[in-house]
Amino acid sequence: MQFFLDTANLAEMRAAKAWGLLDGVTTNPTLMAREGGDWRAVMQAICREVEGPVSLEAVGDTADELIAMGLDLVRNGPNVVVKIPMTPEGLKAVRVLRSKGVDTNVTLVFSPMQALLAAKAGASFISPFVGRLDGLSQDGMQLVADIMAILRNYSMEARVIVASVRHPRHVAEAALMGAHVATVPFAVLRQMFDHPLTSAGLEMFNKDWAALNG
Ligand code: G3P
Repeated sequence: MQFFLDTANLAEMRAAKAWGLLDGVTTNPTLMAREGGDWRAVMQAICREVEGPVSLEAVGDTADELIAMGLDLVRNGPNVVVKIPMTPEGLKAVRVLRSKGVDTNVTLVFSPMQALLAAKAGASFISPFVGRLDGLSQDGMQLVADIMAILRNYSMEARVIVASVRHPRHVAEAALMGAHVATVPFAVLRQMFDHPLTSAGLEMFNKDWAALNG
């Protein structure tokens, strides 16, 4: 399973890299806006920092606009994956970008049918947003299970990025389902290290070691 970081923050990427846990990065306009500054420079710095795929989002209403922005985004680095919204125009853009050798990540996926359409259009990655579905009292991880079953049924090549991750349990369930990637906010990645019994056990071992040497 690959771990991507869902961030545009370079310090977070460097920290994840130091743990050997940075297989790629996903960004979106919201995450880019959070960093501020010159967005082109930020994108280029991310592409230099990360060895794996870096998803940069194309914005536009028509396929032509999305294709044009996608072709511009790939100039930021050799590892760019163009994020395309799950719309009819978006899937047209996916087909064209694929024919030009550009990898795409179809985003804002909330149903199994949307995922199937994206896979058939030739998306390299598909991003179901589990946390936002949970927020509507729907079952985000069931969506991932359904998508994985469909892709396996037809041996489709698209890889699933579990996105909109809210807590480590989302990542654990994604791994149990065999999802290819989880893209996690840095806070969730940090949470994944922790267990209260680890902290309590360490505190006791340190105390006993100090007593032995006291
Ligand atoms: O980057 C896509 C996705 O992970 C966004 O998540 O937290 O805005 O629902 P969120």
